[in-house]
Amino acid sequence: MAKRPFGTVAPPGTSRNWGYALRRVVCPGSFDPVTNGHLDIIGRTSRLYDEVVVAVLINVEKKSLFTVDERIETLEAVTREYGNVRVEKFYGLLVDFCKQQGIPTIVKGLRAVSDFDYELQMAQLNYRMSGVETLFMSTNPEYSFLSSSRLKEIARYGGDVSGLVPDLVHRMLVERLRG
Ligand code: PNS
Repeated sequence: MAKRPFGTVAPPGTSRNWGYALRRVVCPGSFDPVTNGHLDIIGRTSRLYDEVVVAVLINVEKKSLFTVDERIETLEAVTREYGNVRVEKFYGLLVDFCKQQGIPTIVKGLRAVSDFDYELQMAQLNYRMSGVETLFMSTNPEYSFLSSSRLKEIARYGGDVSGLVPDLVHRMLVERLRG
């Protein structure tokens, strides 16, 4: 069967199995560090697609707690059990990464209405630039208050973040922030 051009929509009534394009998706982010909220989105996405590419942004402008390689190693360890998750890093525009990797769809978690404005603009810009679609998945309410930056702040001042991050990340946080 002929492959449909990148980023185009299948006509109504056609089989969902019309090429690789529907089956691979990207979950992008900084993941500094990965939280249980991220994992919830990645895990649920992995049940819907053949392959999930977790894309870690290389952001030279932002000071991070963990290096990109540390974040990749951690993500690989905590997503291994899903079996269809690949972790990559990217620099620059997410849609360029998507094009290089043949990924037509971005999945983002939405925690609250406050996320929506920013995410909607980004989704619309990304679509306009490239035709790459963005799908929003509602975050598990258990994690709707959770962000990597809040988590780091709590951990930095000795607060308890167990249950909010995988055990491996908990140990890494304690180690990194101690002293
Ligand atoms: O975990 P974060 O920091 O909220 O993730 C944000 C991320 C990496 C998904 C977003 O900043 C991004 O896609 N950055 C890459 C640059 C880009 O493509 N910008 C879009 C302009 S519309």
